[in-house]
Amino acid sequence: VCSCSVRSMLRRVLVLLSQAVINVLTSKLLVLTVATQETDGYRRFMQSADYFNYTVKVLGMGEEWRGGDVGRSIGGGQKVRLLKEAMEGLRDQEDLVVLSVDSYDLIFAGGPEEILRKFQEANHKVLFAAEGLVWPDKRLQDKYPSVRSGKRFLNSGGIIGYAPYVTKIVEQWNLHENDDDQLFYTKIYLDPQQRESLNMTLDHKSQIFQNLNGAIDEVLLKFGTERVRVRNTVYDTLPVVVHGNANTKVSKTLFMFEHAGNIHCSGVWVQIHDPSSKTCRITVSEYPTVMVGVFIEQPTPFLSQFFQRLATLDYPKHKLNVFVHNNEVYHERHIQKFWEENKDVFNSFKVVGPEENLSQGEARNMGMGLCRKDPGCDYYLSMDADVMLTNRQTLKILIEQNRKIIGPLVTRHGKLWSNFWGALSLDGYYARSEDYIDIVQSKRVGVWNIPYMAHIYLIKGEVLRNELKERKHFVLEKLDPDMALCRHARELTNHREKDSPNPETFHMLRVPKGMFMYITNRHEFGRLISTANFNTSHYNSDLWQIFENPMDWKEKYIHPNYTRIFTENYLEEPCPDVFWFPVFTERACDELVEEMEHYGSWSGGNHEDKRITGGYETVPTDDIHMKQIGYDKEWLHFIREFISPVTLKVFSGYYTKGYAVMNFVVKYTPGRQAYLRPHHDSSTFTINVALNSKGTDFQGGGCRFHRYNCSVDSPRKGWSFMHPGRLTHLHEGLPTTNGTRYIAVSFIDP
Ligand SMILES: *[C@@H]1O[C@H](CO)[C@@H](O)[C@H](O)[C@H]1NC(C)=O
Ligand SMILES: *[C@@H]1O[C@H](CO)[C@@H](O)[C@H](O)[C@H]1NC(C)=O
Ligand SMILES: *[C@@H]1O[C@H](CO)[C@@H](O)[C@H](O)[C@H]1NC(C)=O
Ligand SMILES: *[C@@H]1O[C@H](CO)[C@@H](O)[C@H](O)[C@H]1NC(C)=O
Ligand SMILES: *[C@@H]1O[C@H](CO)[C@@H](O)[C@H](O)[C@H]1NC(C)=O
Ligand SMILES: *[C@@H]1O[C@H](CO)[C@@H](O)[C@H](O)[C@H]1NC(C)=O
Ligand SMILES: *[C@@H]1O[C@H](CO)[C@@H](O)[C@H](O)[C@H]1NC(C)=O
Repeated sequence: VCSCSVRSMLRRVLVLLSQAVINVLTSKLLVLTVATQETDGYRRFMQSADYFNYTVKVLGMGEEWRGGDVGRSIGGGQKVRLLKEAMEGLRDQEDLVVLSVDSYDLIFAGGPEEILRKFQEANHKVLFAAEGLVWPDKRLQDKYPSVRSGKRFLNSGGIIGYAPYVTKIVEQWNLHENDDDQLFYTKIYLDPQQRESLNMTLDHKSQIFQNLNGAIDEVLLKFGTERVRVRNTVYDTLPVVVHGNANTKVSKTLFMFEHAGNIHCSGVWVQIHDPSSKTCRITVSEYPTVMVGVFIEQPTPFLSQFFQRLATLDYPKHKLNVFVHNNEVYHERHIQKFWEENKDVFNSFKVVGPEENLSQGEARNMGMGLCRKDPGCDYYLSMDADVMLTNRQTLKILIEQNRKIIGPLVTRHGKLWSNFWGALSLDGYYARSEDYIDIVQSKRVGVWNIPYMAHIYLIKGEVLRNELKERKHFVLEKLDPDMALCRHARELTNHREKDSPNPETFHMLRVPKGMFMYITNRHEFGRLISTANFNTSHYNSDLWQIFENPMDWKEKYIHPNYTRIFTENYLEEPCPDVFWFPVFTERACDELVEEMEHYGSWSGGNHEDKRITGGYETVPTDDIHMKQIGYDKEWLHFIREFISPVTLKVFSGYYTKGYAVMNFVVKYTPGRQAYLRPHHDSSTFTINVALNSKGTDFQGGGCRFHRYNCSVDSPRKGWSFMHPGRLTHLHEGLPTTNGTRYIAVSFIDP
């Protein structure tokens, strides 16, 4: 008896189960959405629908929107009317499940099977999305059935139901296009009779619909291998239809959601975002023409390097027109020099200098306007001078993405500071989005939809001529002082914000509603240099940047073969214990000499010397001390960073403290001092770097070590000697017979 009843129970369960399966299989799901324009948001919605193979019917495309500004006030009646019309042909399809959703700010996080299953589990004929706030008529609050847990109020952004039932709801519509759709549905739902006869309920626990408006704290993004899901942590559900809210205009909510939209796609990038379907494959004959706007708005180190990188981008230069706004008198000679050397490189090169007294905003609008008004301008690339593009392919890669606006991710070396903001706080202020750090550190790679960016971005010319035609749509501005003030206050209380962009210099790009901006970190593009603490009172001020921008300093000033000393033993020993290795670039040598000549107070090589303790030098040279040009701190740092490792290699076991008092540049020239008599140095070891070239700059010169009867008479520019100072290495400076010879010398560990 017992086993029999168990068996019959099992059979019943099986029958029920198979019926459920059959229901799911036989029901069809049709997505209906209203979109009058193909906005970026619409395209994103369609991409996510295509990915999951939804059947989507778009209502109202091309129609004028008369439903009011739903973002800001009530409205949306036009949507109901369109749905009513669409349902007329579907009213008899009993197995058809209709899902009516918004499209501009919504994505799918799962497929149609999952929605159908959850809908069937809800065991109602019609299900509306739910939210925690009553809208638009607060007075209706008490009429809502109370719920034990979950959200209580109706949200009309998502409706799912059997076609005949949905029809019965929307056919009641007889209001105006700009009357409120949510109020309409709410009134039907709140009518107890209709609620029962039409078997309606709300998706109280976000089984299907997640509205992010006001609920951002409820959800977590859950990253799977394939795609992201949004998990509602309050109800422990995985909603399938994720709805942002366009009217939270600058709030973090919207942009968290934008991110969700992206991440969702990133796992399946190849299918739905990949260039292959849409991107222009560039062939040599058809490179687009690009207007490059360069903005030098403050003294910026390494400007020559910036221009050099621009000139060596892997892109046909005759397709580039360059517009430079330079706000700094200090930089005029750098630009002049670059222009003289690269006159014919670009298709055109135009500079607006400080004498024009343009504000930053005016200059940026001017650059953008040059592309806007030229129908032949395919792209506008805006670049601030603090962007060091190390990837020569950057422009090509950006163009290949085929976005309206896209920037490459660039970050401050070793910092979390980058050229975009991932989210905004409710007061429109900078907020760190959940995935900001992962994106900046490239732990997550993709093309990201972001609210704010600066420093470098590429805009399609046609966008400037259409969506961004009117300047007022396109706000380029500094944060106003109040905001800066408020940020400052936040910085004091929250040190994490230290790495966020500096409002004083952060010039942001904002675009109108409905347009998306992207940033890509799918490649490495380059870095942002620091313009803070750039003291331009020196002649070659970049030399002083060893602390502030060490990467760029090294690239500019340290010999490219320097690292080979350690990897390939790339050094020589021309005399016993005299080591010879490359350390400075030619550029470093030239700038150091220029700096000294600019300072100009050579000592004259007298025995009396007020600069040293005792005031008497037994073996004087005609020189300038690093300290005199304010370069001693930087020079000692150079010694510790770049000389100490060599010392350790060649004098193994000797750890130098890198301490030196005597650091100077010597000038040998026949008319003044041409040579130096034999002497010992007051050092443990000495370095001696040749700063110019024998043959071109001078004749003669070199160094002779007496104990070994050994001379090095062909010094190499940028190469340094390193030899013991006391006792063993009595040496002399051989006469310079013509021209002028410069060397930089340090007596280390005296
Ligand atoms: C969508 O349909 C295609 C072709 O039938 C199939 O290969 C793909 O796996 C489907 N996608 C999903 C997410 O089920
Ligand atoms: C709605 O319909 C289902 C059957 O589809 C039924 O089980 C349920 O009781 C109905 N609910 C209401 C409130 O009528
Ligand atoms: C430059 O413009 C600013 C404000 O636009 C103005 O205050 C200043 O006097 C101008 N300077 C010159 C030299 O024209
Ligand atoms: C810049 O350098 C000069 C010369 O070394 C020095 O006098 C001046 O104080 C420096 N300025 C700043 C802001 O550090
Ligand atoms: C670095 O070394 C290579 C090979 O020895 C040489 O060809 C090259 O010119 C060196 N680079 C410089 C800047 O001297
Ligand atoms: C030093 O070397 C030179 C050749 O390089 C040789 O002519 C000379 O005699 C040597 N002097 C001594 C003192 O060994
Ligand atoms: C010295 O150098 C100058 C130019 O640098 C050159 O014209 C002259 O011929 C040189 N004199 C000798 C003796 O080499």
